[in-house]
Amino acid sequence: MKLNGDLQDMFPLMLILGLVASTIAWPIDNFDVFDYGATGFGEVDDSQAFVNAWRDACNAETEGEAGVIVPEVGTFLLNPIMFYGPCNPQIIHFMILGTIIAPSSPTSWDGLDSSQWIAFKDVTGLNVYGSGLINGQGMLWWDQSCRYHPNKVLNFLSCNEGTLSNIHIVNSPQTHVLIIDSKGFNVDNVMIQSPQNTPNTDGIHIHSSHFVKITNSIIGSGDDCISIGDFTSNIDIANIKCGPGHGISIGSLGKDGEMVQVENIHISDSSFKQTTNGARIKTWQVGQGNVRHVIFENLVFDDVENPIIIDQYYCAVRGMCKEEKTGVKISDVVYKNLYGTSSSKIAINLNCSRYVPCSGISMKNINLVSTQPGNPVTSSCTNAVGTEVGVNPACLRN
Ligand SMILES: *[C@@H]1O[C@H](CO)[C@@H](O)[C@H](O)[C@H]1NC(C)=O
Repeated sequence: MKLNGDLQDMFPLMLILGLVASTIAWPIDNFDVFDYGATGFGEVDDSQAFVNAWRDACNAETEGEAGVIVPEVGTFLLNPIMFYGPCNPQIIHFMILGTIIAPSSPTSWDGLDSSQWIAFKDVTGLNVYGSGLINGQGMLWWDQSCRYHPNKVLNFLSCNEGTLSNIHIVNSPQTHVLIIDSKGFNVDNVMIQSPQNTPNTDGIHIHSSHFVKITNSIIGSGDDCISIGDFTSNIDIANIKCGPGHGISIGSLGKDGEMVQVENIHISDSSFKQTTNGARIKTWQVGQGNVRHVIFENLVFDDVENPIIIDQYYCAVRGMCKEEKTGVKISDVVYKNLYGTSSSKIAINLNCSRYVPCSGISMKNINLVSTQPGNPVTSSCTNAVGTEVGVNPACLRN
């Protein structure tokens, strides 16, 4: 058989996909969006077919598992869409093998709720996975420089015991993946990409959620690779390749004077390439409450502007917030085995509040040098109390 060029290139891929498909145990009840009238042409709105397939999967009369399938051969245009639970099956699969795209122009969202694009709400035991692509078509949104870009690509709202894996997500108008009000959610092996300098395009944002794990993923977007918001605990982040973007950030916290509760955050075994920050905690002075029991360990920085930073004076415009006597208390933060290069002079910057100082800081085995060989780097630890061993440039000095 003679294959033409394109097919020949595709052939190994098709083999792999075939293998994957045949080794995955298919859910008991499958609902294929093509059976519900999806066109897969990428030009007409396929939302209704998705809603109907979801309705049947979610209501399936099975004790076990059911799944929606988005087939490999197809590009599916979706308008803002909400998949509601609770569902009958204990486990719901949402297998994305093809491509899902958003309307390309912001004006085609007129009259629709553009705060979120694809959302799952109140679904327990949800597994979103597959070799597919989700394209938020953010380009035209980013260009509207003076307008707020509200919509987030993939939203998990009150989804307990869920997973997101293997999916490739690109070009969100705003945050790519939002996990909110959820308990027990694992993200593994995803790839998230948007161009550098796109506004507010966080990779993954976690808010009001507990026991969330994010592992083995590659995230490069214009904003934070991962950001952790108010009311979060037991968050485990490991094996992330972050960059370009703003790094992995706890915060910003307490923006509107909230009582912040952020604890047991573990960020490890990750690398940062050409990001503005590495290990970051940022809080607004008007916030209250706590950030505590945070561990940053085994991190490598390559040409990062602020490899280690706490900013308790975070403000929309630097220097424009007047000094307050309030703040979010930051305590018990461990920095351990952190290495690499800083593109700015201050490689370690703990800028803690005069009124609510940082305490229980522990630094061990840190070596940061300038991206430009031979240039010295310095550190600045203000209102931060703790101990350090083997830290270069030395910061806590006691
Ligand atoms: C700490 O924050 C204050 C207030 O934003 C700022 O003026 C100062 O330059 C910061 N210090 C460092 C070392 O970044």
